[in-house]
Amino acid sequence: MRLVTLLAPLAFAASVLADGQAIAGALAKTDTATAKLGAAVSKWRGDLLGALPIVAESTGLLTTVKKGTKTAENSEPLDFDGTLAVAHATQKLTGTVNSTLTALINAKPKFDKLRMSPLIFITLELQKKATNDMSDAIIAKVPEQLQALARDIVAPIAASFEVALDVYHLF
Ligand SMILES: *[C@@H]1O[C@H](CO)[C@@H](O)[C@H](O)[C@H]1NC(C)=O
Repeated sequence: MRLVTLLAPLAFAASVLADGQAIAGALAKTDTATAKLGAAVSKWRGDLLGALPIVAESTGLLTTVKKGTKTAENSEPLDFDGTLAVAHATQKLTGTVNSTLTALINAKPKFDKLRMSPLIFITLELQKKATNDMSDAIIAKVPEQLQALARDIVAPIAASFEVALDVYHLF
């Protein structure tokens, strides 16, 4: 009984660490899915059939982000180390989101030709909302005194979506 009481805080610390790693893992998966979408967009020649992998990667990314939101929602509050792991994973994702959305912006003339730009716009809106939901779910688990910093770290992702949406809303 006494031993259990003594060990309880240790078990709690271990689970908090595991959750920081679970969220960082979800962010790493999001990073991979984002990079795959960027690669599909970059190598696309502009043909209709070739657009299918882009749609597939884009759907895959949306699913990954929604899973990440669930992971964050089911997580215990993060400790300092967990927060650090999550911040690190977020910074990596920020760069990948920038390159993938830059690739998407560069491909707009091709999407215009196929009259697919409105679809891309709607997809970007969905993706932006899903990403905001994931950010909110993660920030809710960050210690309160680090939440402002966490918002600063994640802000460039929302800014990237605004840049891309601005370009695509001129269809
Ligand atoms: C990517 O980052 C550069 C440099 O910060 C910025 O000028 C550009 O607008 C960003 N593009 C997107 C799509 O986020």
